[in-house]
Amino acid sequence: MGHGESIAQNTLFFSNLVQFPDAHRSSGRVTSGVDQRWDEVYTYRRLGNTFVYYSQFIIPGFIDTHIHAPQYPNTGTKVDLPLLEWLNAYTFPLEVKYSDLKFARDVYQKVVHKTLSNGTTTASYFATIHKGASMALCDAAESFGQRAYVGKCNSDQNLPDNYCEGTAASLRDTEEFIMEVLGRKNPLLTPVITPRYAVSCTTELMAGLGKLAEKYDLPIQSHLCESLAEVKWVSELFPQYDSYTDVYDKCGVFTNKTVMAHCVYLTEFDVALMKERGVGVSHCPNSNLSICSGLMDARTWLDKGLKVGLGTDVSGGYHPSMLDAIRLAIHTSNALSIQRPPDYKSLSYQEAFRMATLGGAEVLALDDTIGNFEVGKDFDALLVDMESSNSRVDTFDFDSIEDLVQKFLFIGDDRNIQEVYVCGQKVVGDGK
Ligand code: GUN
Ligand code: FE
Repeated sequence: MGHGESIAQNTLFFSNLVQFPDAHRSSGRVTSGVDQRWDEVYTYRRLGNTFVYYSQFIIPGFIDTHIHAPQYPNTGTKVDLPLLEWLNAYTFPLEVKYSDLKFARDVYQKVVHKTLSNGTTTASYFATIHKGASMALCDAAESFGQRAYVGKCNSDQNLPDNYCEGTAASLRDTEEFIMEVLGRKNPLLTPVITPRYAVSCTTELMAGLGKLAEKYDLPIQSHLCESLAEVKWVSELFPQYDSYTDVYDKCGVFTNKTVMAHCVYLTEFDVALMKERGVGVSHCPNSNLSICSGLMDARTWLDKGLKVGLGTDVSGGYHPSMLDAIRLAIHTSNALSIQRPPDYKSLSYQEAFRMATLGGAEVLALDDTIGNFEVGKDFDALLVDMESSNSRVDTFDFDSIEDLVQKFLFIGDDRNIQEVYVCGQKVVGDGK
């Protein structure tokens, strides 16, 4: 069996690795057949169903299902406190600054450029409570051509006075934000309803946000069961509810377009409810380890039928690259497996790769549009070169395609990402 055949037969991973993309120039979509235009630029060697040119290959773009754009200036610093203390000491004081539009514009250009050049073709962003700055994040995503969910963040309790909204004002600003974003008619840009987490939102606010999501048919994002102290606080704030998930559900924010970040401490009740409602999980392993929240058991949630994608959770997570999220998802799973019975299977690199692409598309309810190269989907893709002139990875003649892809996932970085495409448009690469 040649390399190509073994690739074609590896279902999870290699149905996701490019078979051969044909991004139609005008539509930006994947169409059937061999795309001569790729042949014009790169002479590919055909191995089974995969085309490679020496050390190059094409994979679907990464989907970061949870990232806080305003926290980008803190990335790589300030991860020495647990969640609730971390929020008060470092995060809220930074987010307050986004009342300054000039500051917001500067940071948001940087974060979109950084994530895109690291291969994040789609990101689901939390912004801040500020409507103007949230629009500036939309501007940045639009100007670079990134596909983005952008959420004006909502909080009306238990936050510092200078970073807390009134309930009515929060709902009004959110609806204005939604209408402004939808008015742009940019298919790559979607407003996402973003109650920060149950601790910082009254049931009145969450119910109002649920109604807005329904009215405009929008996705929803928030945090869930991230740390033990947070779970305890929620149970004290909402004693009349059966669990953390019950609060969200009764407020109408649990839909099949909802993504919940972290989900480390889900009960059986929570998992069953999320499965029934079609709520997806954003697994943020760097953040969970960096601020010592806990180890999320991706294997168990997948086995129970939950949709699972990956998130960087910048800046609770210290790394903006989805390659890092893939690595730490695998290592978190390995760490769990050490303590589990021998038949517990930790995540394979193929599964982690799937979570970073098609899994992410599922939790964002975009799997009809992106996530792999099925005919008819948008061509969101990365051209990876393992021997680009500035690559730090050594490859060998006897490396199989699987080896090359695995090396990229474990020890590659943005220097190996030569070109990035969103909906057929080159957004990173020569002349971009
Ligand atoms: N829970 C509420 N807000 C946040 C945040 O900004 N980051 C993380 N990791 N968890 C949160
Ligand atoms: Fe977060």
